[in-house]
Amino acid sequence: MEINQSKTVEKDELTGDKLLSDHEYDNIRELDNNLPKWWVWMFIITIVWSVAYIFVYDVIKAAPYQQDEWKNEMAAAGGSSSGQSAAVSAADTIALVDQPSLDAGKEIWIKQCKVCHLDGGQGLVGPNLTDNFSIHGCAYSNVLNIIRVGAPEKGMISWKTQLSDDQMKKVASFVMTLKGTTPPNPKAPQGEPCK
Ligand code: HEC
Repeated sequence: MEINQSKTVEKDELTGDKLLSDHEYDNIRELDNNLPKWWVWMFIITIVWSVAYIFVYDVIKAAPYQQDEWKNEMAAAGGSSSGQSAAVSAADTIALVDQPSLDAGKEIWIKQCKVCHLDGGQGLVGPNLTDNFSIHGCAYSNVLNIIRVGAPEKGMISWKTQLSDDQMKKVASFVMTLKGTTPPNPKAPQGEPCK
């Protein structure tokens, strides 16, 4: 019978591979080999994976979607979900207050800043940082900014190349703790009074 004939397995003469009986074009015939085992397993795993994925994310909702994960992280960082810049600028206006950060800031101060501003911030080459006056602004964000950009023409370099952003925040936070202290021999006030 016609059907039975087409079912008999034909083999390639040279390699012994199975030939696909009904697929021929210009005398070129397609082989009908079994798929490699590793390939079949990968295929099965992707199916299992997709079922598990849909179950976790869409059926029982055990894990947040990517965009929700991002929103959560932005909220945890204190910013809004509208963009990264909000979180960054918020971090620039709030001084660190935890003791380890302030201790780290003090260490940087002693190494890098003391020579010009003196131990207690009373001022020498650099201005007095303990009084209620300031050349570049009194707020933490002003202090952080002047450390970042410096005032090179007046003798205060930009610390960007020597300190990481984290270190600049720590030392700026430490500077904020100097305000209102009364070290000996303070330098006369410079700049504008703080509000
Ligand atoms: C080589 C000397 C020198 C060093 C080192 C130095 N400063 Fe200054 N600093 C100055 C001078 C000079 C000014 C005043 C700039 C001006 O007149 O605009 C100043 C200004 C400042 C101000 C702004 C004061 C104000 O009245 O607005 C801050 C804050 C400050 N320095 C912090 C630091 C910190 C923190 C470090 C260490 C990371 C540091 N400085 C290291 C010389 C120095």
